[in-house]
Amino acid sequence: MFGKKKNIPEIDKDQLELIQNAQKRIRQKKRLYVHFVLFLIGSIFIIAANTVLGIGKGVQFFQIDWFVFAILIWLFLLLYHTFNVFVTHKFMGKAWEQKQLDKLVTEQKIRIEKIKNELKKEAPHIAESDIYNEELALKDKTCEITIIVAAAENNAIGKDNKLIWHLSNDLKRFKTLTNGHHIIMGRKTFESFPKPLPNRIHVVITRQPEYKAPEGVIVVNSLEAAIEASKNDSQPFIIGGGEIYKQAMAMADKIELTRVHETFEADAFFPEIDPAIWKETANTFHKKDEKHDYEFSFLTYVKK
Ligand SMILES: NC(=O)c1ccc[n+]([C@@H]2O[C@H](COP(=O)([O-])OP(=O)(O)OC[C@H]3O[C@@H](n4cnc5c(N)ncnc54)[C@H](OP(=O)(O)O)[C@@H]3O)[C@@H](O)[C@H]2O)c1
Repeated sequence: MFGKKKNIPEIDKDQLELIQNAQKRIRQKKRLYVHFVLFLIGSIFIIAANTVLGIGKGVQFFQIDWFVFAILIWLFLLLYHTFNVFVTHKFMGKAWEQKQLDKLVTEQKIRIEKIKNELKKEAPHIAESDIYNEELALKDKTCEITIIVAAAENNAIGKDNKLIWHLSNDLKRFKTLTNGHHIIMGRKTFESFPKPLPNRIHVVITRQPEYKAPEGVIVVNSLEAAIEASKNDSQPFIIGGGEIYKQAMAMADKIELTRVHETFEADAFFPEIDPAIWKETANTFHKKDEKHDYEFSFLTYVKK
């Protein structure tokens, strides 16, 4: 029990594989040998059966005795068996498959390494182009489409193509905010002005193909075309009226609203401001005074 440990000979994995392979080859060759012996005995037996015992005597194909064909077919099978043992199994056995597989894996590894190296080289260029694209996207985002409007508590904005009130501070605010910018408007709002406003680029939307406007006024046939015409402006303003406001709500980023705290009869209205979409960011209240007949508030909304 506590004596010397027996020395058991250890065979490594490769040696074991070699032995198993050799044993397999011996088995294959033995089987071939048995096949060969059977072929010899079988052939002699067939010839004897035909010639001595007279079995199938006289049966011929193409004037040749049947047993010749039987022996030839068997010979073909024996040759095929021999080919398998000495060619197919020797050169194209499991080891050959494994070798091919290893070769393929190595080739794939080399290709992957090559692609990795190419990617490493390209990475800085890709990063640069990503930054470039982000910059472009930011540039687009810096164009802030802003709606500017004065609306009563019931959202009334105009009647008979005229404004309903006169609020001096509201006009001043309009002037300050829109100064130097594109102002986008419907044809009716444009026609409500006695003349184009100074220091602003007017973009008038109409469905009339031949609409004539004073020099310098841009005439377009859709709201999208109006925005396109104002794309160089960082903050184009949509200044009304009711029809245009309605269409522009989905495109706008900001609303500068003067809320007049009164209710009026009107024929043009501003759409409801949905609190789920718009967030109020500024709110300044103004009292009635000698220049202002109504109380009002300046409100700013941005899209959430
Ligand atoms: N309180 C305020 O802040 C404020 C501001 C602006 C205006 N307003 C008032 O609002 C009223 C005018 O508003 P409104 O709704 O009657 O008219 P509007 O919106 O000023 O203009 C409507 C016209 O715009 C053109 N148009 C509209 N959508 C179009 C589209 N998708 N494609 C091509 N053309 C299109 C059409 O012109 P054509 O008919 O020529 O095809 C249409 O008749 C006035 O009373 C004005 O005083 C108030």
